[in-house]
Amino acid sequence: MRLIQHKKEAYWFYRFLSITYDRWVNPLFWTPQMRSQALRLARFDQPSLATVDVGAGTGFTTEGIVRQVAPENVTMLDQSPHQLARAAAKPPLRSCRRLEGDAEALPLETDSFDRYVSAGSIEYWPEPQRAVAEAYRVLRPGGVAVFVGPLPPANRILSWLSKQWMLFPRESDYRAWLAAAGFTEIVTAYVAPGWHRDRRSPYGLAIAGTKPSPGPSPVRLPAPRERLDEPMTPGRRLRFAARFLAGSAAGAAFVPIAAALALRERLGRRS
Ligand SMILES: C[S@@+](CC[C@H](N)C(=O)[O-])C[C@H]1O[C@@H](n2cnc3c(N)ncnc32)[C@H](O)[C@@H]1O
Repeated sequence: MRLIQHKKEAYWFYRFLSITYDRWVNPLFWTPQMRSQALRLARFDQPSLATVDVGAGTGFTTEGIVRQVAPENVTMLDQSPHQLARAAAKPPLRSCRRLEGDAEALPLETDSFDRYVSAGSIEYWPEPQRAVAEAYRVLRPGGVAVFVGPLPPANRILSWLSKQWMLFPRESDYRAWLAAAGFTEIVTAYVAPGWHRDRRSPYGLAIAGTKPSPGPSPVRLPAPRERLDEPMTPGRRLRFAARFLAGSAAGAAFVPIAAALALRERLGRRS
């Protein structure tokens, strides 16, 4: 598993990243255009659709959702109280329900939502299959789940950094997780910010599936690997610190690279 693909490491990563997330990080990697493209797969055709946004963070994706769904029908779930606190300050999201919780063990009833959305969170989940099965469980039959996440970069430096930092699943992994969880009618769309010019590899994937019948997912899984509230032994604490520092450094390195590419793209448009 990657350095920040752990619950405690992701928790602390966002404890700090949250401070600059909306201003300096998110606009580089997850743009309004990408969000519109991804949310199209959710088929938000009525404002009354009960919708959960998992790994909702500071609410950038939720802001797209509440343009189509009444905010009272939207639940924002995240394991980071720091990220959710920032969402709470945003006027369009004031009426959304906010819930601390784990994508791999959703504190939500079976068959209780019409739509499930999760954007930019799958890459931090230690067991994506478990979380995809949870998405299936909480949806009503006919409900749609949309996941958005990165794809492996082709560039050698970015590929090395990505392998240290967090999970960059292959398109076939996403498809396999949804199919194993029981989703049908699987559809996909590639998403990318304007600065992404690498024709060798698409940047990110939005993938959606429909739940065909009621109840939990048919996939059988072993006992969960991690819990956020697990006590830390001294050995674990040391491993945590090493992973957290090295993983954060690898993640941080993406920001200046993306900023430089975004600047090049902007200057290219002007000339
Ligand atoms: C890149 S942010 C995406 C935030 C948001 N979806 C957006 O559109 O800006 C990833 C979010 O996933 C959350 N996260 C990571 N692992 C999680 C888990 N196991 N359960 C719930 N949330 C998780 C993080 O706390 C963080 O807020």
